[in-house]
Amino acid sequence: MPSKLFQKTKKVAPYSKLAFIYDFLMRYVDYDNWASHLVRLFNKADLDVTSVLDISAGTGSLILQLAELGYEVSGQDYSYDMVRIAKKKFISREIPAILWAGSMTEQTSKLKYDAVISTYDSINYCHPIAKCEKVFEHVANIVKPGGVFIFDISTVRNSKKYFRRYFDQDGTNKFDYIRQSYYLSDTRKQINEFYITWKSRKNVCYKEYHEQQIYQLAEMKEIVPQQFFEIVGVYDGFSLRPGTEKSDRVHFLLKKKAND
Ligand SMILES: C[S@@+](CC[C@H](N)C(=O)[O-])C[C@H]1O[C@@H](n2cnc3c(N)ncnc32)[C@H](O)[C@@H]1O
Repeated sequence: MPSKLFQKTKKVAPYSKLAFIYDFLMRYVDYDNWASHLVRLFNKADLDVTSVLDISAGTGSLILQLAELGYEVSGQDYSYDMVRIAKKKFISREIPAILWAGSMTEQTSKLKYDAVISTYDSINYCHPIAKCEKVFEHVANIVKPGGVFIFDISTVRNSKKYFRRYFDQDGTNKFDYIRQSYYLSDTRKQINEFYITWKSRKNVCYKEYHEQQIYQLAEMKEIVPQQFFEIVGVYDGFSLRPGTEKSDRVHFLLKKKAND
């Protein structure tokens, strides 16, 4: 959606340009509270956690909070540009962390972790559902026996309530962006389109097209590999109440079974 006639629209990969404005868009997200909720879930699983890997770490805001709570954190993300921003944040705060680019559907680390996390409906980017099965296989290989995998999904209700037709426009002295979202009920796809323009380069408008599959809780539960994981709980939002299709977001808490 170029706003000016002289502007050319350039399609780019998800999170390649958004990476640079992501933290501005997420400035109201309470990552501190999110980290506290994860700690509550570690406790719910009766787990003493030292090491945490975030397999869709984005710009690292959540693991930064976990690091400040004393956890040894690592992070990966599919987007190289998001990882670059995350690295800068850790370096500037002199907090040690291993960060790399890679897909959560594939194993890219030989290390094992007490807890593996994937938050803010990142797993909704994995579709068709066979890709989520790959995520479970991958995580089963890198989480220690007795360790946990915590992820969240956003629900159909969330898409219908907030993002059936959504428009947002904002910016700073460096950039402007437009976000346009819509929900496709028949395929349960949440589409988010971003149009980003840098004030220093007004003749180009970068367009990112994001497609997320909105899964039902039952279909997600059904593909959890029972030979590897026990489902400790599925929780509503940031509470310990049971999550349902009436929730906007649900957190899944899976515990890796001990090796026989
Ligand atoms: C909504 S953002 C959430 C980022 C971060 N977890 C947060 O809370 O700010 C979704 C993230 O998922 C990442 N992502 C999408 N597909 C992925 C994949 N296959 N493997 C790893 N990360 C992926 C994106 O690059 C993006 O950083």
